[in-house]
Amino acid sequence: MKILVTGKGGREHAILTALSESPSKPQLFAYPGSDASAALATRVDVPNLTELIAFMKREAIDLCVAGEEAWLVKDEGLANMCENAGIPCWGPRKESAQLEASKAFAKHFLKRHAIPTADFAECQSKEEALAAIKGYPTVLKFDGLAAGKGVAVCPNAEEAEAFLDEVFTKRLFGPGNLIVETCLTGPEISIFVSVCDDQYHILMPARDYKRIRDNDQGPNTGGMGAVASRDLAEPSLMQRIEAEIVQPTVQGLIKDSLRYRGFLYCGLILTPDGPKVIEYNCRFGDPEAEAVLPMVSGDFAEYCFAAAQGRLTPELISFKEGWSVCVILASAGYPASSRNGDVISGLDAVTAAKVFHCGTRQNAAGDYETNGGRVLAVVAQGTTRNEARDQAYAGAAKVKFDGQQSRTDIAKMHFE
Ligand code: AMP
Ligand code: GLY
Repeated sequence: MKILVTGKGGREHAILTALSESPSKPQLFAYPGSDASAALATRVDVPNLTELIAFMKREAIDLCVAGEEAWLVKDEGLANMCENAGIPCWGPRKESAQLEASKAFAKHFLKRHAIPTADFAECQSKEEALAAIKGYPTVLKFDGLAAGKGVAVCPNAEEAEAFLDEVFTKRLFGPGNLIVETCLTGPEISIFVSVCDDQYHILMPARDYKRIRDNDQGPNTGGMGAVASRDLAEPSLMQRIEAEIVQPTVQGLIKDSLRYRGFLYCGLILTPDGPKVIEYNCRFGDPEAEAVLPMVSGDFAEYCFAAAQGRLTPELISFKEGWSVCVILASAGYPASSRNGDVISGLDAVTAAKVFHCGTRQNAAGDYETNGGRVLAVVAQGTTRNEARDQAYAGAAKVKFDGQQSRTDIAKMHFE
């Protein structure tokens, strides 16, 4: 079996690793992939999706797995183009991927299907947004893909105004509306669901840590670490999430004729009134994938291949007992900017943890150096949360590069 994975970050490195460890031993390709993933997959260098589809046809690729979100809504949509070419794709069609690409689309979907979420207003100007803010803190969300940077939780009017200027005056994220949302409180949890038409399979839940600094301080990032375990949420909570969120979401997709085959990520806040959706993503989480996928046993490649063809088969995989912890090492300046070219040392010294490459490249000497905001994901498993955490941090401590940033409270905060 030949499988091509789209994307180039730590999530895709983790997906490629899980596929490569599958008993069905698929031959792997990555578009565009990274220098580190080249050890597992042949990198495909083509200029656009049309060429990618042509490559997949020529190479007789059996399955395309969508890693990152951007391709899902580009041109006619990766999944739509795969379907037209007769290539099974694990990732939803463009019209369904609006659940992630447009926050307004997602909010209207949630409201229409009575799925619990924060109250909201959709605004077209700074003035309209200011009038819609009912109090502080408030949450402002740009209505489009913004690489995790289009959301601001604003404690006061000054910060709200500054973000509104970025959106409407500087147009930092391009054209688009803005959602003003009520601020919810409670711990967050990421629920991953394999959705295959009207069937679904809930995977291992995870929690990510979005703020740059310890104790959830500083600006939001793409994610500074994650923790995953079957024990992260009690069975009664998982049942409530399934009944109140997952089932109505899958039924809503069917009612709205939004065809969906792929991972669906429900980002939830566990409020005192119950779980509420803060966002949908139409792909696996990053860095949650780096924590969850090492916990998968069975044939992940067969699982994705069958599901992409309409045969969701949960029995093909299972999730290990215990805990998995992922610590992200980020580069200087992140998340406002990122510094490339800082040489990384110590990678070979990491033995009891796995290292997934999020943003690295090999320099002329063959050494890895920083190439992006999130640089590496150091991941370890353990019987207990603390065991996994200690192993992950022990691994992370061996890796060095100038300007390195990481949190010290991954898998600790929100538990103790
Ligand atoms: P999103 O991209 O919509 O997931 O938002 C990014 C982050 O902003 C979330 O993970 C939360 O930490 C925070 N956030 C988003 N919406 C809300 C909300 N309504 N109330 C509180 N925090 C939120
Ligand atoms: N962990 C957040 C995301 O994947 O969007």
